[in-house]
Amino acid sequence: MKKTGWGFIGAGDIANRFMTGLVQVPDTYLAAVYSRTYDRAKSFADKYNAKVYATPEEMIADRNVDIVYVGTPHTVHKENTLMALNMGKPVLCEKPMAPNAEQVSEMIQTARRKKIFLMEAMWTRFFPAMEKIRSWLKDGRIGKVQLVIADFGYYERENPSHIIFNPDTAGGSLLDVGVYTIAFAFMVFGKKPNRVTGLADMTSTGVDAAMGCTLGFEGGGLALLYSAVNTDTTQEAQVIGEKGRIVIPRFWSPKEAHLYLGGKLEESFKQEHAGDGYQFEIAAVLEDIRKGRLESELMPLDESLAIAEVMDELRKQWGLVYPFE
Ligand SMILES: NC(=O)c1ccc[n+]([C@@H]2O[C@H](COP(=O)([O-])OP(=O)(O)OC[C@H]3O[C@@H](n4cnc5c(N)ncnc54)[C@H](OP(=O)(O)O)[C@@H]3O)[C@@H](O)[C@H]2O)c1
Repeated sequence: MKKTGWGFIGAGDIANRFMTGLVQVPDTYLAAVYSRTYDRAKSFADKYNAKVYATPEEMIADRNVDIVYVGTPHTVHKENTLMALNMGKPVLCEKPMAPNAEQVSEMIQTARRKKIFLMEAMWTRFFPAMEKIRSWLKDGRIGKVQLVIADFGYYERENPSHIIFNPDTAGGSLLDVGVYTIAFAFMVFGKKPNRVTGLADMTSTGVDAAMGCTLGFEGGGLALLYSAVNTDTTQEAQVIGEKGRIVIPRFWSPKEAHLYLGGKLEESFKQEHAGDGYQFEIAAVLEDIRKGRLESELMPLDESLAIAEVMDELRKQWGLVYPFE
């Protein structure tokens, strides 16, 4: 079998971390890299014996690039993704897929029109612990789910030039890490919410430093979600049902999950993984592409759009409009 070659747009923090997963997956490799700063792209590419290009078009056109990975700031995801799709290459695009639903919708429409694979890199979905949680839920182990509680907060000193605090790069906790809490609630309830309400504390730069929201799901069931870039939180998720609950420490890249029934620990799942754990997502994407699928069953495009719509609604309630909108 021919090895699958990846072409990276962006050579920053996530590109480096993603590579710790990619090197663990057989029959795949980094073929080429483009980043705005040539020297940055070159030193990254040299580490993995990959080619480096001065323009994204040349990089995407490299015949060894079978799939493009977009690891640039949120505000360039659409431009990078559309370029790759229009050049006929499948795309794995970092989360959030784009800063708003309008952009996400354009990306999805292009992928569908061109019949090319596209996925938002919601890597949380692909961990073995998440597979176990989905099986506990499917088997009704905790009964009807009434509540999801999830938080993802970390502390970063406020710095207006950092992409997380800059409105020009769609900064704020919601798009950076709140998206994980929302995607988790979507996975548990298996549908989009029909009610969304939230509050935010803003930074001096005008993006959300922290946000809390409630999602309500048809047929009953609530999600209480929190994200922050000004506070370290437990980063834990709980799924509470009529008969029991599931607790997931560090739910966004889990190594364990615990099932409690009647207040007592009934079952624990634990699995260590090497590196950060991007290998599970990467292996799943490779399988989809090799089998000719146009989207991921675990992270479908309609769900990426619905998540973006929830985030749009929350920002609307807070009056947070990015300068480019
Ligand atoms: N899945 C995860 O676990 C995870 C973790 C962290 C981040 N992310 C996501 O990954 C994305 C990037 O975050 P990051 O932390 O890696 O940011 P970062 O460290 O600032 O890296 C961004 C990269 O994109 C390049 N870039 C910036 N503007 C560009 C443009 N206009 N055109 C082309 N390249 C451009 C930068 O290159 P230059 O320096 O040359 O400009 C840099 O190589 C974000 O959307 C974030 O949400 C995901």
